[in-house]
Amino acid sequence: MLEELINANKYLTENIKKYRKTAPLFEEFEKETIENNIPIISYEVAEYLKFILRNGKIKNVLEIGTAVGYSGIIIANEIKKNNGILYTIEINEDRYKDAISNFKKFNVDNVTAIYGDALEEIKKIKIEKTENKFDLIFFDASKSHYMEFFNDSYELLNKNGIIFIDNLLFRGYIYNDYPRRFKTIVERLKKFITYLYEIEDDFVLLPFGDGVGILRKK
Ligand SMILES: C[S@@+](CC[C@H](N)C(=O)[O-])C[C@H]1O[C@@H](n2cnc3c(N)ncnc32)[C@H](O)[C@@H]1O
Repeated sequence: MLEELINANKYLTENIKKYRKTAPLFEEFEKETIENNIPIISYEVAEYLKFILRNGKIKNVLEIGTAVGYSGIIIANEIKKNNGILYTIEINEDRYKDAISNFKKFNVDNVTAIYGDALEEIKKIKIEKTENKFDLIFFDASKSHYMEFFNDSYELLNKNGIIFIDNLLFRGYIYNDYPRRFKTIVERLKKFITYLYEIEDDFVLLPFGDGVGILRKK
C-alpha cells in the first residue's frame, strides 16, 4: 500500500474511534474479538458499510462469513428500522455458536444464522417474492471462492441491489509480489476483479481497509 494511504488509513481510524458513537458493551466485544484474533471488518469498512446501509432502502441482507457476529450485529441493527432480516452463513461451528450467543447478548432478533459452507448454503436459500430478495450481499469469507459466491447469489439480489466485497486487494498481493503459497487465491481474485469490471453492472474498487469492491446491479 502507498505510504500516504497507510497514513491516511491511520488518520481515518483515529477519527472513527474518536467520533463514532458506539455502546461501551459493543466496544468491549470488539476489543475481545480483536484480541482473540477473530478476523472482523476494520473500523473504516464498518463505517462505510453503515453509511451504505443508511440509504434508507436497504432491507434484507445476506452476509457470507459471520465469524462471531461482529459485522452481523452492526448490519442487523441498521436494517431493523426497515423490518429487514440478515441472513448470515458461517462454516466454522464454534464461531457459528459464538455468533448465536452474541446475537442474543446484543438483543439482535432479526437474524437467520446459517451453519454450513456458503458454497452449499446459498443455493438452498429460496426466495419466492421479489420484495423478499436481498438489497445487499456482503462477501467476507474465503476469497478464493468469491466468483462462486457471486454466481450463486447474484440472482438473489434485487435490481439496484449492492454486492459489498471485502478484502479484494488481499494485503496488496493483487498488485505487488506475493508469497507462492497464495498463488491460487491471487489468481482467482485477479480474474474475479477483471470480471467485475467487465460486466454491465456498476462497479468500483476502493483502496481502503483491505480493498473494498462495490457493485450495483442494473
Ligand atoms: C473475515 S471472517 C468474517 C468476519 C465477519 N464478517 C465480521 O466482520 O465480523 C471470515 C469468516 O468466513 C468463514 N468462512 C470461510 N469460508 C466460508 C464458507 N465457504 N462458507 C461460510 N463461511 C466461510 C470463516 O470461518 C470466517 O469465520
